[in-house]
Amino acid sequence: MSQPLHLPISKTAAQIAPFRVMKILGQAKALETQGRDIIHMEIGEPDFASLPCVHQAAMQAAEKGITHYTPTLGLPALREKLSEFYQNFYNAKIPAGRVVITPGSSSALQLVLTAILNPNDTVLMPDPTYPCNRQFVELLQANVESIPVDVTTNYQLTTQLLEKHWQPHIKAVMVASPANPTGTLIEQEELLKMANFLAEKNCYFIVDEIYQGLVYDRPAESILGHEKTPENIIVINSFSKFFGMTGWRLGWTIAPAHLIDILDRLGQNLYLSAPTPSQYGALAVLEPEALSELETRRQTFQHRRDRLISAMQNAGFKLKTLPAGAFYIYWDVSAFTDDSEQFCAELLEQTGVAITPGTDFGKSGGKTHVRLAYTNNRIEEAVERIAQFTKQLS
Ligand SMILES: Cc1ncc(COP(=O)(O)O)c(C=O)c1O
Repeated sequence: MSQPLHLPISKTAAQIAPFRVMKILGQAKALETQGRDIIHMEIGEPDFASLPCVHQAAMQAAEKGITHYTPTLGLPALREKLSEFYQNFYNAKIPAGRVVITPGSSSALQLVLTAILNPNDTVLMPDPTYPCNRQFVELLQANVESIPVDVTTNYQLTTQLLEKHWQPHIKAVMVASPANPTGTLIEQEELLKMANFLAEKNCYFIVDEIYQGLVYDRPAESILGHEKTPENIIVINSFSKFFGMTGWRLGWTIAPAHLIDILDRLGQNLYLSAPTPSQYGALAVLEPEALSELETRRQTFQHRRDRLISAMQNAGFKLKTLPAGAFYIYWDVSAFTDDSEQFCAELLEQTGVAITPGTDFGKSGGKTHVRLAYTNNRIEEAVERIAQFTKQLS
């Protein structure tokens, strides 16, 4: 018998941290197969299926034989439709030529970071943040500088924090509004101030608006809706969350004009084009009737958020911040644990409630925070189970 080979893997890839929520999801599914009743509040995707009009449009395209690649930058009709969407809803004049369709916003993030970063450049982001952003930057051999944020700034970066942490080697700043895992927003005036501060420094500002339509108590907004915006802004968005199309893998970026050609060339090499049936589905989901159904779903999420907040408050749990968007609550569990991973594992094992440890999202408060996603309707029952569990800890 020959000796097993020791075939190497890339050092950069080997350092990639796992997405812990997937581990929790795996454990929860395993318990489910054993017959346990699990309440899923770990995964960040709507529990609703995509709308029937999406299925019909995709099927119709496929039946007509439209199953080939689209241009790399996206189906021209979809780029046009998104340009109209920005005009109609955000009063933003975005030429279709600046809209780039991608396979999920995950690809949009990778594409723009690949387009702008050199090895050893630095990207600034808040801690906690969407975890994949750190990995995308590190895969490009650039450095992440995480700024711990807390309740005093609504868990978001501010112009003041940018001024304080400014270093000349910073190439880009990444924020999300509403954010994952906190559901908090950055006020539009503040976003614009940050963009202008960074423009003066010749630095890109990547604004992830993927939870844009999922805001409560106020209308949805875009940084591009301001009358005058500097050229350093790169907006990221997706059909996954508000549009309920996670599995269709479709997102987009609105990039400055000078980046479009390089994004095109990168896309041509990295994935050729976004899925064609999905792009036809997306054309249908941007029609007024579909948008009004999505509005009803948004109201359902709002109602769930309100129920979750009151159930938690009634159980005596303190919430430091009330989420204004997305479908998450970021909860400080330091009264019960300093090991959020163990907390989540035991909660799942003992009560069947699956939630995500804060360590997925950052180092600063990760061990003492957890994320609850209200993508499940069994809200009061989940909180009751959590309350039973924490009683034995305090
Ligand atoms: C803030 C944020 N950005 C980007 C993504 C990527 O989503 P998708 O690739 O499905 O568009 C997610 C997914 O949860 C997210 O929370």
